[in-house]
Amino acid sequence: MSHLLPNVFTPGNLNNSPQLNEELQGSAYVQPDKQIQATTKKAYIETYGCQMNFSDTEIIAAQLAEIGFGFTPSENNADLVLLNTCAIRENAETKIWNRLKQLKVTKKSKPGLMVGVMGCMAERLKTKLLDQEQLVDLVVGPDAYRDIARLVEEVESGQKAVNVLLSREETYSDIAPIRLNTNGITAFISIMRGCDNMCSFCVVPFTRGRERSRDYQSIVQEAEDLFNQGYKEITLLGQNVDSYNFENCTFANLLEKVALINPLLRIRFSTSHPKDITDEVLFTMAKYPNICKFIHLPAQSGNSRILELMNRGYTREWYLNKINRIREIMPNCSISTDIITGFCSETIDEHQDTLSLMETVAYDSAFMFYYSERPGTLAARKYPDDIPESEKKRRLSEVIEVQQKLALNSNLKDIGKTFEILIEGNSKRSEKDWCGRNSQNKMVVFPKDNYPLKPGDYVTVLINQASTATLLGEIIS
Ligand code: 5AD
Ligand code: SF4
Repeated sequence: MSHLLPNVFTPGNLNNSPQLNEELQGSAYVQPDKQIQATTKKAYIETYGCQMNFSDTEIIAAQLAEIGFGFTPSENNADLVLLNTCAIRENAETKIWNRLKQLKVTKKSKPGLMVGVMGCMAERLKTKLLDQEQLVDLVVGPDAYRDIARLVEEVESGQKAVNVLLSREETYSDIAPIRLNTNGITAFISIMRGCDNMCSFCVVPFTRGRERSRDYQSIVQEAEDLFNQGYKEITLLGQNVDSYNFENCTFANLLEKVALINPLLRIRFSTSHPKDITDEVLFTMAKYPNICKFIHLPAQSGNSRILELMNRGYTREWYLNKINRIREIMPNCSISTDIITGFCSETIDEHQDTLSLMETVAYDSAFMFYYSERPGTLAARKYPDDIPESEKKRRLSEVIEVQQKLALNSNLKDIGKTFEILIEGNSKRSEKDWCGRNSQNKMVVFPKDNYPLKPGDYVTVLINQASTATLLGEIIS
């Protein structure tokens, strides 16, 4: 589960990155060790769904640059529009269908425009996307990005093109991603692909295929390159990072190797699985101050019978023991979760167990969803989707209400504390304020106060106010 932003559909062009305000075109866009050839055509890539998708966008961008594409922040002057899609819930797919219908209108006024779908929906729907109402010219699955040159060529010669073959080996480890959506300070590094867990509600094992780990040498190299370019925080991404394994290098070993690059490089990771996270990982996190004290540990439900139906591989008690272990080893670690309400056959009492688990853990933050049946998953085949949507939503609103209270409580406890903040940029509300995160992944906003600081600097901030979403403070050094 890499989906830290699962219900948030952020089109790739909405980032406030300075690079996106200009067109990334011309001949001198330089990646580490690589000069990209002069560009003639332009691509516009819109990314939906999880961080893994954002990371994939950067990989396909590198492939497109190799065949002479530049990048534009607007579909208006694009020759190729690619939607990097998510299939995790039905409403994610509905959004894409609607977007494709809009693009069909654009296509009428721009006959040469190529429209492509990449990512999880490409894999799930395959040729259905091509058949449907002439909406799409090109379909490229998550393991087929190296084939983009051939696919584009086919479309240019007037055909439809598709490659949705899944691979057991592909990790794109040798591709230097083009950081299109960057603030220049924080970046993602994909460390593995696919998922072998088969949670019964989840389509990801079908759309992204078998789990495979990327070689650690290329991961460390990419992190070093990023640090040398001025990046200060990297997030190691995988559907289940705790099962990372490459030539006996475990996830804990990998974390250590990356943490040792430089104490000024912060490390985050996502997503952990409660059944797999080890003490070794927790001790490694505790040992290195630059490994952020934040764990996203999705529970999904607080009831052991539902967890069994979900095929999660742990019980409520096991989960709570893990939480205790995290708190023992790192008392200052913040914890977030994913919750699904209204899973097949969930009773009111079982839903209450989820609410009580949330209270017991006192999560700092959470992503919360109501259950959406996905065709082909174990749950779709085995269990009736028998909770009415209105009831799923009612349970979800209770879960959200509890979480809002927990988040506020957690933030109020931070008043009077000082944190080291990595400045990411101006706050959204005012250019007079900086914003950045503390190690616990909380967003902190504070006045610039004429200090000679810039994005990428670390600064110590004393917290003096808190809301559900943000901490407010002032610079003390
Ligand atoms: N319905 C609702 N939520 C889902 N998730 C995954 N599959 C589904 C589904 N079918 C949620 C899980 C997962 C997160 C990324 O999305 O909580 O951890
Ligand atoms: Fe995450 Fe489970 Fe889906 Fe794998 S199957 S991506 S572990 S929710």
